[in-house]
Order: sequence, then structure tokens, then C-alpha cells
Amino acid sequence: MNTKSTDAITMLTQDHREVSALFKQYGELTDKDGAGKKRLADQICSAIALHATVEEEIFYPAVRNAGKVEERMIDEAVAEHGSAEKLILQLRRLEADDPSYDAKVEALAAVIEHHVEREEKEIFPHAHRARLDLPVLGRIMATRKDELAAGA
Ligand SMILES: [Fe+2]
Ligand SMILES: [Fe+2]
Repeated sequence: MNTKSTDAITMLTQDHREVSALFKQYGELTDKDGAGKKRLADQICSAIALHATVEEEIFYPAVRNAGKVEERMIDEAVAEHGSAEKLILQLRRLEADDPSYDAKVEALAAVIEHHVEREEKEIFPHAHRARLDLPVLGRIMATRKDELAAGA
């Protein structure tokens, strides 16, 4: 997948749409044996973890440094990543036939839906106004993402 020429906000927005499509796919699964559920949930968890790491390592600090966004917004976004991370850890420890599995996937979907809305409505507009070099930031983020994915 070549994301190297994509600007930072386009890249993050594409990730958001991909994860939301995966959650939708999970909701539509008819596979009751668990293997398909586990595979899809693992894919969702890895995609979220990778995305959140790149935001926290690169995107959020760049937005913070640009000074155009309230610190509180970024702090809250990081806290939401923390909530998602807790659910991801729980899901990774569970088998898909656990009675609480689907509820945890749903809880993760709700946390992420709310979080994505915050980023797209509150943080991205500020990043646009902050005159960040979004293409360069996008390239740095894509490279880091590849590195993280290769090490996972
Ligand atoms: Fe995001
Ligand atoms: Fe995020």
C-alpha cells in the first residue's frame, strides 16, 4: 500500500474510514465459530493501535507545537486512546466465544466513533489552520507506520 504521497490529515481520515468499515463488517458477521470474529477483531485492534501510536508520536506533538489547538483537546484525545487501548488489551486476552467478547468490540467501536468525531471536528480543522506542512508530516507518519507494522 502506497500512502507515502498522502498528506497527514488525508491519511488519518482514510484510516478512520477503514476502521469504521471493519467495525461494520464485524457487525455483519454471521460466522459463529469465533475464528472469523477473532481474526477481524485482531485486525481492528492492530489498525487502531498503529494509528494511535503514529498520532501520539508524530501528529499530536506537531499540532501541539503549532500552538493553534487547545492543549485540553489533545489531552482528551490521548485519554480516549488510553480507553481504547484498555479494551484492546482485554480483547486480545479473550477468546471470541467469551460471552463478553461482542460487547467489548461494541464498546471499542463506541469509544472510537466518539474519538474520531473529536479529531475530525476539533483537531483536524486546527491542524489545517496551523499551516503545518501536512505532506511532509504525512510522509514521516507513513514511514513510521511501515516501521511499526514491520516490527509488529
Ligand atoms: Fe485518528
Ligand atoms: Fe486518535
